[in-house]
Amino acid sequence: MALMLTSVPGTNDIFAQSKEYPFREPVFRYIIQTAERVLRSSGAQMIYTPIFEYAEVLQKGVGVTSDIVVKKEMYTLEDRGGRVLGLRPEPTASIVRAYNQHGMKVWPQPVRLFTWGPMFRAERHQRGRYKQFHQVDYEALGSADPLVDAEAIALMVQIYRELGLKGLEVKLGSVGDPEDRVRYNDYLRGLFRPYAQALSEDSRVRLESNPMRILDSKSEADQRIVAEVGVKPMLEFLGPEARAFHERVAGYLEKLGVSFSIDPSIVRGLDYYVRTAWEIHHSRIGAKSALGGGGRYDGLSEMLGGPRVPGVGFGIGVERAALALEEERVQIPADPAPDLYLVPLDEAALLEALQIAQGLRPRFRVEMAYAPKNPRKGLEEALKKAARFAAFLGEGERQRGVVTLKNLHSGTQVEVSPAELAGHLA
Ligand code: HAM
Repeated sequence: MALMLTSVPGTNDIFAQSKEYPFREPVFRYIIQTAERVLRSSGAQMIYTPIFEYAEVLQKGVGVTSDIVVKKEMYTLEDRGGRVLGLRPEPTASIVRAYNQHGMKVWPQPVRLFTWGPMFRAERHQRGRYKQFHQVDYEALGSADPLVDAEAIALMVQIYRELGLKGLEVKLGSVGDPEDRVRYNDYLRGLFRPYAQALSEDSRVRLESNPMRILDSKSEADQRIVAEVGVKPMLEFLGPEARAFHERVAGYLEKLGVSFSIDPSIVRGLDYYVRTAWEIHHSRIGAKSALGGGGRYDGLSEMLGGPRVPGVGFGIGVERAALALEEERVQIPADPAPDLYLVPLDEAALLEALQIAQGLRPRFRVEMAYAPKNPRKGLEEALKKAARFAAFLGEGERQRGVVTLKNLHSGTQVEVSPAELAGHLA
């Protein structure tokens, strides 16, 4: 017998009965629908971009010093013409590419877009970290006003609140302007060079390319060194403009009643960020794994060959939101039970049952047994499904041109013609 084929570890099937909570389809749907409701209420519009792009769009997007590029976390493939394509590790670059490609710069600004879907990163998988995962993503393009940053953070918090999550920690920081970062990285190089040999291999590479990333290294040895050298945070290196911008975002959030703490040393994993950067963490799903994060990326469009387009946005990890819902034991709305369960009592009633079902769908939720049942067994099945009504169709019913309809809440039973069923269900 051939070996049964299975999925790639780090990818997941998402269905109602999954043993693992984050992969239960109703949980997944609850998160996406809640996020969509909040974002649509703000006037943001849905955009679907392809899950693959020319690799350079994605690489230039996330940046050459990001883990995604340095650690070759992007899945690539070659098309028949020999062009290298990549599966998107995140959607922001694609959305900025679409903005430029479709001339959205002449629309009223900011253009506010959202999307959701699968993302792909060849990371070592563990709880909360997968090779294929899902994000809800929001982007506001074409405004450099800190009010738009505050709105993005407030919307993100609102999504988690609407989901019913409580243990949230909003950490707001700033990665400054590019010239601030040059100064900060010089400072960090000076600080860490004497420890180069003791740093992890990844951090030795980062020491030259992007020393800020050493600060959020997952290696314990690196973390010890970071604690030992007493690093001054990025926030102390902000120039006057980036500082004023940061203070305005923080001030707006206070006025909006959004609780947050200032994280002076926030580091984001993607290169495109400038100024505002934030993460939302959850008290019970581990300090190293953010529920979601976002920030401003005013230079990204130019990196993709477009005009200057300031932008700010965020990504919410759907699986991580699910883990937080599981931790907090938030009740997810149950799928509604069937209105009607049809029980054919003989072979001849099977097609008739299906005809009745199709006549009532989609106004009512109608399910049926796909093989003849005896009435007792049929009733058992209807009760197990928690249906409101069961209808029985057999030889006697056929002759009288009726079905036997049982109200499973009150226990009453009547004979009705198929045409009258809708009236009884309503
Ligand atoms: P990010 O921080 O790389 O940002 O990802 C956002 C969220 O996606 C993370 O906080 C996490 O919840 C989830 N996530 C990331 N990688 C994985 C993984 N391997 N498995 C499970 N969940 C994961 C971005 O992607 C930016 N595009 C966000 C953004 C939008 N910034 C501006 N606009």
